[in-house]
Amino acid sequence: MWATSMKFPFRRMVLCGALGATASFSVYASNGNNQDALRFNPDSGGTAGQVSVYGQTVNYTAYTVSYVSKPVKADQQVMTIYIPSTATKNSAIFMPLNTGGYNQISLSAPADVTEDNESGSTRAAALALSKGIVVVSPAGRGRNTTMDVNGVTTEVGNGPAAIVDLKAAVRYLKHNDSVMLGSAEKIVISGTSGGGAFSSLIGATGDSPVFKRYLNEIGAANASDSVFAVSPFCPITDIDNANAAYEYFFYGSGITTVNRSSTSILTMTANDQRLSGVMANMYPNYINGLGLKNPNTGVPLRLNSYSPDAVMGGSYRNYLYGILGDSATRFIIDSGYVNADGSLNEDGQAYMSTPTAMNGATSGLAPQDFIGWNASTKTATLTSWKNFLRFMNRLKPVGAFDNGFYYVTGEMDVFNTDPTALQNDVTVAEGWNHFDVNLGDAIVKAGLKGVSGYTSLNNFKVPDAVAQWAAMMNPMYFIVKSKRNTGLDVNPYAAQMYNTSKVAKHWRIRVGSYDRDSSPFISMNLATALQNQGKDVDYKIAWNQPHSGNYDNVDMINWILKISQ
Ligand code: DHB
Repeated sequence: MWATSMKFPFRRMVLCGALGATASFSVYASNGNNQDALRFNPDSGGTAGQVSVYGQTVNYTAYTVSYVSKPVKADQQVMTIYIPSTATKNSAIFMPLNTGGYNQISLSAPADVTEDNESGSTRAAALALSKGIVVVSPAGRGRNTTMDVNGVTTEVGNGPAAIVDLKAAVRYLKHNDSVMLGSAEKIVISGTSGGGAFSSLIGATGDSPVFKRYLNEIGAANASDSVFAVSPFCPITDIDNANAAYEYFFYGSGITTVNRSSTSILTMTANDQRLSGVMANMYPNYINGLGLKNPNTGVPLRLNSYSPDAVMGGSYRNYLYGILGDSATRFIIDSGYVNADGSLNEDGQAYMSTPTAMNGATSGLAPQDFIGWNASTKTATLTSWKNFLRFMNRLKPVGAFDNGFYYVTGEMDVFNTDPTALQNDVTVAEGWNHFDVNLGDAIVKAGLKGVSGYTSLNNFKVPDAVAQWAAMMNPMYFIVKSKRNTGLDVNPYAAQMYNTSKVAKHWRIRVGSYDRDSSPFISMNLATALQNQGKDVDYKIAWNQPHSGNYDNVDMINWILKISQ
């Protein structure tokens, strides 16, 4: 715990210029950094290594380099470049992120692959190497990165630090494109959850001048930081709108139990449920302000205020139903559950009728309680929204990402502007920054201001610098134009992000059907916004998957080969 009196003077200092000027200037203009220090030399420093893929040995040379000339934490701002013996000048460069929870990113080595269905980013790396793709494993700062500053343990990876480091890593690759195998015009970045957020941000914010000051500070190369393609799994992103989205998702399900873990279960009080309803009804304003369109039909995706009859929820909600149905259909067919006449075989019937635990909790429900199978069309459809939600169960309380009354979330730690308030202080206390204006408004609208249990929100405020960070760290703001007086303007800096960046051309977005770390709306919005901008987007919900990633490595690597030919 920290003393408030000590906290604020420092905080004020840090807040002064979080974003700095956003005036336009040349992104690649000389920044006075030592560019020679960032030169890659293929003839020195490499270490030979190998990994086994389906029993075949894949040989590579690995180089660990510093990607900045003025590191904040030298051992964290490095990356390992794995160049397979079959790489060419034209090979794609695959950058899997080894991180979760918005924490720091660690170097990781490729791991042996024996079977197609083995998961994990280190196996994706090995598969990539086996196809001649260069693999780059960056380390980078995150919200748990600390160092000793004059005897005080200090956080040095909050706010956009992780994004800034990854941008610097990308710049290093672009800066050295002529001397390194692989093409820096074909960088593909991938990550899961917090890493899915980081990779989405790298994809959405390429070359945006809003990061320039930070990149100069660490001595990044004078080069582009845009990437070719992004493959995020379950990105925990759009976090200043994800609270409201989470409530829209779960509201009306009748779920009042929050299964944080099998030993940590919260019960939502009547006041929590009231707050949930207020937040749920803020979400349509945001969605309708985005102006999304069904990418197949061009029909506007509209969301109505919450209705117990979910089908009445509007075209936006029905669009998600369709995507979930398609996901279940693929799963049932790919699992071999369908007879030639379209009926379900014995295994298929067993799948549908067997109650299973999901996300560590037993609902007593089986898939047939929320999906139906049509044998003549060989398609599955979602038949009960409520049962679907009850089957997957709820992970987070109201205020899923920005809270402070039940606990301080990891995301609140990302927006911590007091470097001496450490992440292991993440307990309920006054003084943590909020970043979601909706939460403050909802507390007032729900009549909960000053009410016991919520008093930590009495002086709810999103500091200006935090709003700037939240805008810089929301890929949606870079992709979709902000519309005045809609939810998007809840963040006053949202509009400044739009059209400042070069957005990646190719995206492969995956989220599990039973992922409850965020609502499925988040990845659907990202995919749809990108599709509406004419990007090449392969977006699917992976049926039967919880919050996870890299479960389809072979398909992902094939996708990389296809787009990078
Ligand atoms: C991750 C999971 C979360 O629920 C969250 O809020 C942030 C990050 C993760 O697994 O990376």
